[in-house]
Amino acid sequence: MMSGNLSVAHFGGYFHRRPRVVGALFIATAFALYYFFIINGAGDAILEAIYDPDTTNVSLNSILRTSNKYRRHPIEPPFKDKFWEVGQRSRNLSQWITILDSRWGSELPEEDRHMLVNAIDETAISLFPFLQPPDTKQDSTAPLGDLRSSFTKGSKGIVISAGGSDSSARFAGHLIASLRDVLGCTLPIQVAYAGENDLPKHRRDALSSLDKTHSTEFLDVWTVFDDSTLQLRRGGWAIKSFAALASRFEEVIVLDADAVFLQSPDALFEQHAYINNGAYLFHDRLLWQHGFQDRHKWWKDQIKEPSPAMNKSLVWTEDYAEECDSGVVVLDKSRPEVLVGLLHIAWQNTYAVRDEVSYKITYGDKETWWLGLELAGSKYEFEKHYGSILGWGKEDNKENNTVCSFVIAHVDEKDKLLWYNGSLLKNKLADPHGYEVPIYWMMDGKWKKGGKKDMSCMVDERVRWLSGEEVSVLQRSIEAAIQVDELLGLGGPN
Ligand SMILES: *[C@@H]1O[C@H](CO)[C@@H](O)[C@H](O)[C@H]1NC(C)=O
Ligand SMILES: *[C@@H]1O[C@H](CO)[C@@H](O)[C@H](O)[C@H]1NC(C)=O
Ligand SMILES: *[C@@H]1O[C@H](CO)[C@@H](O)[C@H](O)[C@H]1NC(C)=O
Ligand SMILES: *[C@@H]1O[C@H](CO)[C@@H](O)[C@H](O)[C@H]1NC(C)=O
Ligand SMILES: *[C@@H]1O[C@H](CO)[C@@H](O)[C@H](O)[C@H]1NC(C)=O
Repeated sequence: MMSGNLSVAHFGGYFHRRPRVVGALFIATAFALYYFFIINGAGDAILEAIYDPDTTNVSLNSILRTSNKYRRHPIEPPFKDKFWEVGQRSRNLSQWITILDSRWGSELPEEDRHMLVNAIDETAISLFPFLQPPDTKQDSTAPLGDLRSSFTKGSKGIVISAGGSDSSARFAGHLIASLRDVLGCTLPIQVAYAGENDLPKHRRDALSSLDKTHSTEFLDVWTVFDDSTLQLRRGGWAIKSFAALASRFEEVIVLDADAVFLQSPDALFEQHAYINNGAYLFHDRLLWQHGFQDRHKWWKDQIKEPSPAMNKSLVWTEDYAEECDSGVVVLDKSRPEVLVGLLHIAWQNTYAVRDEVSYKITYGDKETWWLGLELAGSKYEFEKHYGSILGWGKEDNKENNTVCSFVIAHVDEKDKLLWYNGSLLKNKLADPHGYEVPIYWMMDGKWKKGGKKDMSCMVDERVRWLSGEEVSVLQRSIEAAIQVDELLGLGGPN
């Protein structure tokens, strides 16, 4: 069997280099051999996957060999110059999953299929050790396969990370109330946290009681992933990518608890950027051109072959500093390349990697999302505009071409306001009761960044009024939030 495998692997390897001047006779011979081995149950299947614009053929043996090589040479620290390599391995992994899911995969002889499944799982676990479930669960030999089959087929839903602090539980409550009672959103919600102390039972019960549709569930990420290499409790942003992975929703909207919506999040699934790519992201503010050169140097070093998506990035092409506002991320995990991109993102958020690189060179999790998708070879698309602003006029003088606040606003593909970050409070750091409905917004203007305690402003573009409908959504959301504060007893100090 071994020798049979090896000899056919030779043909497989040949095909995979693309048939430049391969004669028809040769192909016919290869096919004859291929079927001969299939019939003899010892075949090395030549696999074809519709992948990228062009079709790629790989042989099962080349997959087994590559998978072995990866296991023999695991990714080790320092991680700063390994992002590209993890991406390359991820690309192979998602290609193999695509093959497994394809007609070719399903028609493989049982034994070959088993080998392919094993190679996929073993590669996944060597690249992403956090996939091994915690001790409390049965030792899994197919952690990636198990994770994939834990997704509810065809499901869509929202994941909100709400652990770690009273304020995130409080804002999650505001968000749930606004989605259910104001925007009429009926998408199921999973509230994610890391272990009992991160979001205790009484908090979970209180949050659950806010949802009159009874479709809020809880997701303790510790029951899915072993925390020893993650350290997610009070890990802040790091939990988000793991919550996205662990969620049972196949198509998942990942939300920061302090996100505020002006349209129902259902609209996210209808944006062409999402439909066409299966991964939809939002931009940060266009700031600090030519600042942070270390960051650019590192990106240029690790993104060796930029995808067409990078061409649209003003961070990439014009040297601005901040790319992504990760307060809302939309991913379709049924697409292998998106799922594997998410694994790359999660890897960047593991303790050792974020502590050495991700959270040092860039700010928190925000740039890990596009970078993981980019490096793992997934398609993705950002909203068209860099971050907009919504807020109020300038307080200290009479300028009427300025909008100021602490938040970043985002629009849909028709340039209609969709969501903003930072809660319904005017200044969440200074006044935990200071709810206020914004009046104006602005898009594509010039940012004037304030200090931590001062508002930022946008100038030099048309000041737009919020529509009556938008004002009403926010007014009603604030009313709902005030009720939530009473119910949770979490209205802050006064
Ligand atoms: C892949 O293999 C199929 C036959 O299995 C062949 O028709 C096709 O041309 C090959 N494609 C490439 C890019 O080698
Ligand atoms: C792994 O990826 C490289 C680069 O895309 C590709 O050339 C190679 O064929 C892949 N190998 C396998 C076994 O899939
Ligand atoms: C990016 O844009 C430039 C100029 O418009 C073009 O020459 C280049 O081919 C593009 N690259 C990609 C990867 O799309
Ligand atoms: C305020 O806006 C009006 C009309 O948009 C304009 O004519 C006027 O010059 C502006 N005033 C200031 C102080 O910018
Ligand atoms: C909104 O997001 C930006 C960028 O991440 C951040 O600097 C700002 O503090 C956030 N606003 C609030 C009120 O949290």
